[in-house]
Amino acid sequence: NVLILDFGSQYTQLIARRVRELNIFCEIKPYNKVPQDMSVYKAVILSGSPFSVRSEDAPHPDLSQIKGKIPLLGVCYGAQYLAHFHGGLVAPSNTREYGRARLTNIKNDERFFYEITDGTQVWMSHSDTIQKLPEGAVIMASTGDVENAAYRIEGEDTYAIQFHPEVYHTTQGKLILENFLVHIAGLKQSWTPDAFVETTVAALKEKIGDDKVILGLSGGVDSTVAAVLLHKAIGKHLHCIFVNNGLLRKNEFQDVLDQYQHMGLNVKGVDASARFLDALAGVSDPEKKRKIIGKVFIDVFDDESHLVEDAKWLAQGTIYPDVIESVSVTGGPSATIKSHHNVGGLPDFMKLNVVEPLKMLFKDEVRRVGASLHIDDERLGRHPFPGPGLAIRILGDITREKVAILQEVDAIFINGLREWGLYDKVWQAGAMLLPVNSVGVMGDERTYEKCVVLRAVESTDGMTADWVDLPYAFLQKTSNSIINKVPGVNRVVYDISSKPPATIEWE
Ligand code: XMP
Repeated sequence: NVLILDFGSQYTQLIARRVRELNIFCEIKPYNKVPQDMSVYKAVILSGSPFSVRSEDAPHPDLSQIKGKIPLLGVCYGAQYLAHFHGGLVAPSNTREYGRARLTNIKNDERFFYEITDGTQVWMSHSDTIQKLPEGAVIMASTGDVENAAYRIEGEDTYAIQFHPEVYHTTQGKLILENFLVHIAGLKQSWTPDAFVETTVAALKEKIGDDKVILGLSGGVDSTVAAVLLHKAIGKHLHCIFVNNGLLRKNEFQDVLDQYQHMGLNVKGVDASARFLDALAGVSDPEKKRKIIGKVFIDVFDDESHLVEDAKWLAQGTIYPDVIESVSVTGGPSATIKSHHNVGGLPDFMKLNVVEPLKMLFKDEVRRVGASLHIDDERLGRHPFPGPGLAIRILGDITREKVAILQEVDAIFINGLREWGLYDKVWQAGAMLLPVNSVGVMGDERTYEKCVVLRAVESTDGMTADWVDLPYAFLQKTSNSIINKVPGVNRVVYDISSKPPATIEWE
């Protein structure tokens, strides 16, 4: 197991991803929460940081249980930290060093730089520089602007690099991490999806025994993988509930339910469309809609979970990015842009014990585990779809008629993406129905009908996104079929806004 101490760098999760790509398990902890018991960790990596070691409030954790005792690698701020607090000198550099640089004078005899080529490209992102190395340090490599680009401490397995090995632009970064973790720390590259499935299934059996577990399926990747994993461990004792809120894609409820049953899951489909749509009638405020949907979902789920007698556990498809404790750099709370979860009071099902079998995995790892569980590619490669569904894509109030129109439009768009081989090139796609009518002409008739928006974005995590440059021929064909096939729509537009400043969904 590897510990990554986070000093608030935007790249910390990327370090973790790279380590895991080497089939080595790792955890991220904030710098001010160094675990008491370090015996499970075979290596420690110190991340970068937006702080300067010279500033008053610079993170300053106690590494006495780590440095000199466990193989240690300082990256960027981590390297400066190891210099500054151990007799070296860190000072502002004359030139701010950002972007690509070439690593030269590499000591190739080092295990650390094993098979790294002299002149290899590395990525720099810092404004301080290490002017004097700490006590006992020897320089291992330089760049044109940075003399002390890499050093190690003699007599210890302590290494420090000014550049970022985790970013794509550091060409041999992954090999450097591998050298450190495998050759120096002696870690085994045995953390594979198959191994994860095997150990997790065994652990779930042990933890849950013969108890009953309830799980809410959404059709999405995370809840599906969590369900299949639990099913493998406890079989029919897993009770899955799949709720139709009346705001799903066209045919989604029945198709997905059939698929789940086909996979052998013990799943109950609950059609609560009327409850949701009645509660939403006449409401057009985006936040109110979200709150209503959240509340009705909880009511429905609570009712259903009472039907499963003696349930002891609630399973959730939570993944690692949701549980990593972040290091607050600004100090202040972030503004609520959209409310995703709104839990008023504690419904009964929330009093159950919680089991989250995926909570240590990143999204791409969930997909790999899913593949190892033989879940089909189409389900694993599915675009994200928001919990409130089409409600936040119908601007203004929601009616059954509008839902039906949008379902048709969305189906033409999404099926078209699949037919044209574009679906997997897009991170998320969908259509919005606008609360405006515009004038058109069909045949010799004047029309005054609805306008729909198509949106397709590329992203890695939904936090930032850019619109996709879909082929004109595809957009033309799609627009034609929507207007010809969906009564009530006479205009189609394509959204070319990035996030930020826009968001992916319109509400
Ligand atoms: P925004 O619109 O905030 O969306 O740019 C970012 C990502 O989050 C999804 N999204 C949601 N997912 N419940 C969800 O499960 C929600 O309430 C919700 N709101 C937005 C959105 O589809 C996009 O992938």
